[in-house]
Amino acid sequence: MSSSGFTIAIDGPAAAGKGTLSRLVAGAYGFHHLDTGLTYRATAKALLDAGQPLDDEAIAEKMAREVELGGLDRDILSKHEIGEAASKIAVMPAVRRALVEAQRRFSEKQPGTVLDGRDIGTVVCPDAPVKLYVTASPQVRAKRRYDEIVARGVDADFDAIFDDVRRRDERDMGRADSPLKPAEDAHLLDTSEMSIEAAFQAAKSIIDVALSRYA
Ligand code: DC
Repeated sequence: MSSSGFTIAIDGPAAAGKGTLSRLVAGAYGFHHLDTGLTYRATAKALLDAGQPLDDEAIAEKMAREVELGGLDRDILSKHEIGEAASKIAVMPAVRRALVEAQRRFSEKQPGTVLDGRDIGTVVCPDAPVKLYVTASPQVRAKRRYDEIVARGVDADFDAIFDDVRRRDERDMGRADSPLKPAEDAHLLDTSEMSIEAAFQAAKSIIDVALSRYA
């Protein structure tokens, strides 16, 4: 065993199912899980709460360095406006450097970790023994998000959600620093026509092979 734990890197666009898959994988192997999107969201929320602008990189970096990985509250941070603000500060190299440092420290935990995000396999943990790139068509991702909102008893507008998914893809894939893309050695998992259980089984087969080779 190496001194740091076994890291599973899970990347992909918004609403591809990587969050649910990451939680299932972490639970199955008893690994620590970090949704790195929440670190960008927590930085954005701290700026919004402090009434600070979203375009001042030095202030945003300071907030990023103060984010506590143990105190990330998914319910609070999942608000739409926080996601929008997060995608604006996620283009700033100083913010990314600060959060990537914290994410790398997290990835060393024993016995292993699952990190999900956009740049885990390419930038944060390029040596991770397992890299998965989870994707689905924009239509399927928008429909899943639409169904989730409707299931909570809230009205939803499919076209608006679809436009939002496309806009987020453009921002995540088009930025200069750490754009969203599969690592060269990532396993692609297209979940457009897969249930979450099927995606989990596919991921598990890949992870089990890598674990058996890990020394
Ligand atoms: O996955 P999410 O919606 O919680 O991510 C919020 C924003 O943070 C999104 O615009 C993408 C960005 N992000 C990133 O740039 N790198 C990561 N590793 C995770 C998220």
